[in-house]
Amino acid sequence: MRVLMAASEIDPFAKTGGLADVASSLPKALKKEGVDISLVMPFYKKFVLKSGLSFQKTDLEFEIILNGKKYSGLFYISFVNDVPVYLMENDEFFDRENLYGTPTGDYPDNGLRFGFFCYGILELAKLLGDIEIIHLNDWQTALVPLIKMRKYPHLAQIKTLLSIHNLAYQGIFEKEILEKLNLGYEDFHMEGVEFYGKVNFLKAGIVYSDYINTVSPTYAEEIQTAEFGYGLDGILRRRKDVLFGILNGIDYEVWDPQKDNELYFNYSKNNIIEGKKINKEKILKDCGLEGLEKPLFGIVSRLAEQKGFDLFPSIIETIARENLNLIVLGAGDKIYQDMFTDISKRYANVYVKIGFDPVLAKRIYASSDFFLMPSKYEPCGLGQLISMRYGTIPVVRATGGLKDTVKDIEKGGYGIVFEKYEPRDLLRAIERAIDFYRNTELFEKSVKYVFSLDFSWKSSAKEYLNLYKRMLS
Ligand code: ADP
Ligand code: GLC
Repeated sequence: MRVLMAASEIDPFAKTGGLADVASSLPKALKKEGVDISLVMPFYKKFVLKSGLSFQKTDLEFEIILNGKKYSGLFYISFVNDVPVYLMENDEFFDRENLYGTPTGDYPDNGLRFGFFCYGILELAKLLGDIEIIHLNDWQTALVPLIKMRKYPHLAQIKTLLSIHNLAYQGIFEKEILEKLNLGYEDFHMEGVEFYGKVNFLKAGIVYSDYINTVSPTYAEEIQTAEFGYGLDGILRRRKDVLFGILNGIDYEVWDPQKDNELYFNYSKNNIIEGKKINKEKILKDCGLEGLEKPLFGIVSRLAEQKGFDLFPSIIETIARENLNLIVLGAGDKIYQDMFTDISKRYANVYVKIGFDPVLAKRIYASSDFFLMPSKYEPCGLGQLISMRYGTIPVVRATGGLKDTVKDIEKGGYGIVFEKYEPRDLLRAIERAIDFYRNTELFEKSVKYVFSLDFSWKSSAKEYLNLYKRMLS
């Protein structure tokens, strides 16, 4: 089975969120299942060079005229976990400061950039020869099925799967993007790529790919409702026969409390309670916090509305006055950055670092007693899975993948789950966590329990394999 997986970010080359984790760990797991898989992503030079991995030029290249101008793409090859990764070079499009835009907004030519990427994915499939499935991820790749249908009829036998990691990011552009990408207006209608007078890349993927999946069973249901559908619920309902929910996993070798070099102290199930305490003591010291006996709450997140941060403004003072320590690592919307920075200046028990910092992230996962993830919506969420891998109890809202992976202690589970998206419900959840922590026996039992759960790719990779088989049958 030959699969080409396309993603706009792959860890460790470039990462802004969980997509990068999935795009590097799922192929590794699929390879173990016997799938012959390759990856393709844009060659963001500044990012790829920083990763320190080596790469080589290939003789695979293509040229294409877009918007009346000739563009060329040259593929470099590298390997992540023994899986070949083709890096599509075009410096004008991809050698930039950031992946998608600056703090003031998206790059204005993102339609052309990722339209070019979609053409390049098909060119690579053509050059490689015997690809059976192209596995796409999110809007940056979602125009492939339409371009394939209109421009590459000789690749008609290749099946396409679109994985949706986040329905809120759709890639919406003025309708002229169709001309710039050599596509006519024959698909510019409600059943096609049209979306309120504009062109919607993700919608095109949903309409024209053979199969669709999203990253948890609950989110697969939620996106078919108006509340979570971001305007695409109707079209998703129409395609529900080919729409699946497959829960993400995480790479247990990348996230490994026994072996990670980044941790202050490695631990296993035999010394988890003491091991976590040593990590906690050190991180408190590094962050200038006091009170080993107080529960430590950690947040590692994009600071975006999706993650539930608009619940905080009215309760953040109250949270800071609770008998707890809080460490926040995140980057994103200025309003939330300012909110956390402000509170950390005024309360000695709150430490905030604004930025993207994989080392501190790991330390927070390992040292915290609780991991806070009160998302408004959550396609899957890796943060709660990673935290449990380190024996840290998740405090989450019951939505999407959080609902599928965290069970409340009061219902015989092992975490804290709240239902309503209301500030006081979040506050109540935090207070319940503090009470839970005081019950040392039960708390330590739960720490050991979450540590024993398995959220690796083992079973989900098999589900993808079965889906691939179904696509080819
Ligand atoms: P999303 O993809 O929606 O941002 P996930 O929970 O699926 O959320 O994945 C987030 C990934 O990004 C995790 O690997 C998490 O550790 C990482 N991450 C998020 N914010 C930061 C940050 N500020 N520094 C380091 N890693 C981060
Ligand atoms: C998205 C989602 C997140 C998911 C990740 C990987 O960024 O927001 O919930 O875990 O993709 O699939």
